[in-house]
Amino acid sequence: MAGTTPLLVLLAALSAFFCHAAALHTLADGGASIDSAAVASAGGDDSKVYIVFTERQPASAGLPETDARAAIASFHHDLLSNDVLDANSNAPDRVVYHYTRSLHGFAARLTVDEKHRLAGKAGVLSIHEKKVYKLHTTRSWDYLGLPQQQNDSTKLPFENDVIIGMVDSGVWPELESFADEGLPPPPAKWKGVCSKNFTCNNKIIGARAYRSGNTTVSPRDDEGHGTHTASTAAGRAAAGASLGGLAAGTARSAVPGARLAIYKVCWPEDCSSEDILAAFDDAIADGVDVISASLGYEFPLDYAEDMMAVGAFHAMKRGIVTSVSAGNSGPSLASVSNVAPWTVSTAAAADDRKIISELVLGSGKRIEGSAVTTVFPDLGQPSLLIDTGSCFPEDINGKRLKGAVLLCGKLGLTSRAAIKSSGADGAIVYPAKDYELDTAFSFPFPLVMVKEKDYGHIIDYYNSTRHAMATVMKSVTVKNAAAPSVADFSSRGPNRITHGILKPDISAPGVDILAAWSPEAPLSGTVSDDRRAKYNIVSGTSMACPHVTGAAAYVKSVHPSWSHAAVLSALVTTATPMKSGEPEAEHAYGAGQVNPVAAPDPGLVYDATEADYVSFLCAQGYNSSELAAMTGRSNANCSTEAKGSAVGDLNYPSIAVPVLNYGVGFAAEFPRTVTNVGSANAVYRANVTTVPGVNVTVTPSELAFSTGKEKLSFTVSVSGTLVPVNGTTGASASLVWSDGKHQVRSPIYVFPYKHVM
Ligand SMILES: *[C@@H]1O[C@H](CO)[C@@H](O)[C@H](O)[C@H]1NC(C)=O
Ligand SMILES: *[C@@H]1O[C@H](CO)[C@@H](O)[C@H](O)[C@H]1NC(C)=O
Ligand SMILES: *[C@@H]1O[C@H](CO)[C@@H](O)[C@H](O)[C@H]1NC(C)=O
Ligand SMILES: *[C@@H]1O[C@H](CO)[C@@H](O)[C@H](O)[C@H]1NC(C)=O
Ligand SMILES: *[C@@H]1O[C@H](CO)[C@@H](O)[C@H](O)[C@H]1NC(C)=O
Ligand SMILES: *[C@@H]1O[C@H](CO)[C@@H](O)[C@H](O)[C@H]1NC(C)=O
Ligand SMILES: *[C@@H]1O[C@H](CO)[C@@H](O)[C@H](O)[C@H]1NC(C)=O
Ligand SMILES: *[C@@H]1O[C@H](CO)[C@@H](O)[C@H](O)[C@H]1NC(C)=O
Ligand SMILES: *[C@@H]1O[C@H](CO)[C@@H](O)[C@H](O)[C@H]1NC(C)=O
Repeated sequence: MAGTTPLLVLLAALSAFFCHAAALHTLADGGASIDSAAVASAGGDDSKVYIVFTERQPASAGLPETDARAAIASFHHDLLSNDVLDANSNAPDRVVYHYTRSLHGFAARLTVDEKHRLAGKAGVLSIHEKKVYKLHTTRSWDYLGLPQQQNDSTKLPFENDVIIGMVDSGVWPELESFADEGLPPPPAKWKGVCSKNFTCNNKIIGARAYRSGNTTVSPRDDEGHGTHTASTAAGRAAAGASLGGLAAGTARSAVPGARLAIYKVCWPEDCSSEDILAAFDDAIADGVDVISASLGYEFPLDYAEDMMAVGAFHAMKRGIVTSVSAGNSGPSLASVSNVAPWTVSTAAAADDRKIISELVLGSGKRIEGSAVTTVFPDLGQPSLLIDTGSCFPEDINGKRLKGAVLLCGKLGLTSRAAIKSSGADGAIVYPAKDYELDTAFSFPFPLVMVKEKDYGHIIDYYNSTRHAMATVMKSVTVKNAAAPSVADFSSRGPNRITHGILKPDISAPGVDILAAWSPEAPLSGTVSDDRRAKYNIVSGTSMACPHVTGAAAYVKSVHPSWSHAAVLSALVTTATPMKSGEPEAEHAYGAGQVNPVAAPDPGLVYDATEADYVSFLCAQGYNSSELAAMTGRSNANCSTEAKGSAVGDLNYPSIAVPVLNYGVGFAAEFPRTVTNVGSANAVYRANVTTVPGVNVTVTPSELAFSTGKEKLSFTVSVSGTLVPVNGTTGASASLVWSDGKHQVRSPIYVFPYKHVM
């Protein structure tokens, strides 16, 4: 999703200019079955791609996989052939994908009339028009390496039975981060494949690509994003990642021994829902343990309309954890876009290093700016300062401005192409909001963003002398005293689809992250940028998500049988609480900063099964057809299956309490059940922390586990009258269960939803 700030919009728009060097590779047998004829033959100009969920075909049960898939494909073709398609149309020509492995349905090109006729047929559960998702990167990057935290490149831990499926823009497999030295062959449960003309190894054990059913596309990454996220999640420690000669660093991940399976669904222009669903269909059947998807729709979609949520629901049924990014539409409230409770949604936080760039004026005055300026030829050399007022093409086109640094004014009154083609040594801008300076972005030329006030000082200097000069210095890293703090671009809660489920769930580093990069991708994402490298620094919730993916994989390596909910619970209840001054508090950072070291030993977990999520959807108001679309069962029925009556009854590890307004009394109860995953005879006591106006009681307040008594239930009652506190959008409380050894912490966030929806 593109951000809402002008800067992020500008940067996201650049993706349209990516040079896309397509490599011609072929999908190996065993992938999602594809009707390749559909690629060339659409259903006329007014047709669109629709995803159709169908009833499961019992006739295919028990058949060998290829026969079962053929039987299902034939069922799909029959559905279309019988009085649905316009005359002279052939069903196989219209089908883009048959979802046959983990899901039940197909994607096809249909006209609106055909869609209506299909909707009335028996066996069709629901029909969804194709939607376009975007990667959650902000495209800020750099050549700088960050100091190494720990040298673990010689250790190869034991997590090599864990497989992470990366649903992203592919991977560049020949990089050091993906070396397989010392790794045994893939675990026996692995059923995936490697595309033809793509070299897998014991690190990258599978790779597939999906583009509207085209069978000849390659999973190779020429964009950089997928290589970056894959190496962040499970890359080998790669020493010497320093670039630009500025700072040495080691690119590393949480689980260097884990395996990667690549599912390429993102192409320069977009990531399409029918491709994403095909990737989930395969990843689930291939045997991955964790799915990582750093992408999302531009606003939160209802669960049944969000194909990532539908795919993740089917993953959850098989015990697979789905890790997603919260989105880059912050700091607006209610901007978080990946909100299904059967996913882990991650916010982006800044760590303790910040990248800055300095300007030195001819007067000797130094001004701190935000930018990534490195490996450009004339850095550190004084240039003439020129006031062009704006840097729109009409102001600077056709001018040769080599030797000059341009005063461009407000960001947005700028054209990258015009500045680049003028040959200027650099450009100075100020953003609409000072907080946009908190993330260092990079551009195909030295562009420095300064505070509006400082821009005024530069203009004063410019007016004070006939020969104004300015020098753009190379970027440096400085200490970020505010760390960890949530990035302004990181999407905020509340969750628009279900106010009573706290999203994002958790935070992880997502600002200026160093990781591997596709050597074919321009460093600033602009076609005119001919800088290439094997590492890059990028920002976004896209970069935060694979940190949590890695932590989830680490938990799975210790507890292979844990459900999605148990892993989510372990991550949430062990997160390090944050108090970083964000007015949105838990709606900015969720439970806090992910703590991968503590997560495998949480003490207690809040577990949930498919039936619990079905009850949740019923409480959400799902009718039988929406429930059928989500579960894939035509007999799904809330009157027989729902257990609880409120969305807050879901056994979630955090508690969100939407209240009508400040000054209005409220009272709500949250039943919860914890499973003891620590020592058998533990006794846990509840410790509540709260603020004035919010009363929290826990009944019972002591849980004594004994052998054979692993699950115990309690109720959290939250009541009171919310008092406005300056500069905040809600009130933060918490419940911590402690046995003296474990601290099982659930955030409780009370907020007035009236003001934010
Ligand atoms: C295979 O991949 C290589 C490396 O990207 C490429 O140069 C070559 O053209 C590809 N060959 C085919 C047949 O696609
Ligand atoms: C399928 O992908 C290949 C490789 O990117 C491309 O050359 C070809 O034109 C595509 N086919 C269609 C029908 O889009
Ligand atoms: C880590 O340690 C090994 C062995 O001591 C050494 O060869 C390697 O260069 C070190 N890596 C980094 C990034 O310092
Ligand atoms: C600086 O000079 C510009 C013309 O170049 C003028 O429009 C502006 O008012 C001056 N600003 C100050 C602060 O003197
Ligand atoms: C369920 O709700 C959807 C969306 O509101 C609606 O289109 C559909 O017809 C409903 N189905 C039933 C069985 O009521
Ligand atoms: C759901 O179950 C109830 C009770 O058995 C039944 O009356 C109702 O018709 C069922 N609804 C659907 C859509 O199957
Ligand atoms: C309860 O939590 C507070 C705040 O973290 C802490 O100061 C206190 O010691 C805890 N009490 C018990 C009994 O653990
Ligand atoms: C909090 O709950 C206790 C016990 O039920 C009650 O005595 C007290 O008045 C409540 N306080 C507020 C602010 O609601
Ligand atoms: C709340 O903030 C406003 C504006 O920042 C300030 O004028 C006011 O004194 C603050 N009130 C309290 C109770 O802190």
